[in-house]
Amino acid sequence: MCFDVISIFPQYFQPLDLSLLGKAQESGRVQINVHDLRNWAEGTHRSVDDSPAGGGAGMVMRADVWGRAIDTVRKPGRSVLAIPTPSGQLLNQRLVERLAQSEQVVVACGRYEGIDARVAEYYDNVVEFSLGDYVLNGGEVAALALIEATARLQEGFMGNAQSLMEESHSEEGLLEYPAYTAPQQWRGHEIPAVLKSGDHKAIARWRRDQSLRRTARRRPDLLASLQGLDSRDRQILAEEGW
Ligand code: ADE
Repeated sequence: MCFDVISIFPQYFQPLDLSLLGKAQESGRVQINVHDLRNWAEGTHRSVDDSPAGGGAGMVMRADVWGRAIDTVRKPGRSVLAIPTPSGQLLNQRLVERLAQSEQVVVACGRYEGIDARVAEYYDNVVEFSLGDYVLNGGEVAALALIEATARLQEGFMGNAQSLMEESHSEEGLLEYPAYTAPQQWRGHEIPAVLKSGDHKAIARWRRDQSLRRTARRRPDLLASLQGLDSRDRQILAEEGW
C-alpha cells in the first residue's frame, strides 16, 4: 500500500526510513511519499495560512492550497484522506485495520489552528483522527503513528506474524499480558513460577488472567465490548471489582 503525507515539515518523516518500515519500503511492500505543502502555495510569500473567519487567535490553513495539494497526490480508487486533529475520532486498532485495507492513505498534516473545515467536507472517504485527548503542535506526530500502525499490518511486514495475533488491542480487545525474560532473578524479583513450569495450559490461563486484570485496572472502558467470557474470566473480573 502507499502513503502520501503532506506537511510543511517534510523532515519530520525521515525516521520512517529506519528499521522495519525502512525495510518494507526497500522491499516495495510499503511506499511512502512525503510532500511539502508549500509546493502548492502561491505568491511571493508562499503563504499557507490566514486569519480565522469570525476572528479569534491563531491562523487557519487555507483550503485552496490544500485542495491543490490533495488533488495532485490523491489517486482514484481505494484512497482515504486522513486528517490528524485533536477533534477527530480516536485512532484505535479497529480504525487502523480499516485503513490497512486501502490502496492509498493521504495524510494531510495541519499546523496552527488546523485546516479550513471545507477540505474535510469536500472530499469523500475522509477520516479525521486524534491520537489521544491531548494537543500536539501539529499533525506530524499523529501521522507518524498512523503510518507505523497501518504499515505493520501489511502482509509480510512482520518477521513473525504470530506476534501480531497476541498483542494488545488485536482481536478480542484485551491488553497484552506481561512478558519476562532472562535473568531468572533481577534485583530480588523472580520470573512468575508458572512461566517456568512447562505446563502450556496453565501458562495460557495465567496469561489470560493477567490480560483481564490489566484491562480491568488500566482500561476498564475496554471491558464493555468483551464477548464470550467463561466462568473463570468472570471470576477474575469479579476479583478486580467488576
Ligand atoms: N494535532 C494536534 N493534536 C493532535 C492530536 N491529539 N491528535 C491528532 N492530531 C493532532
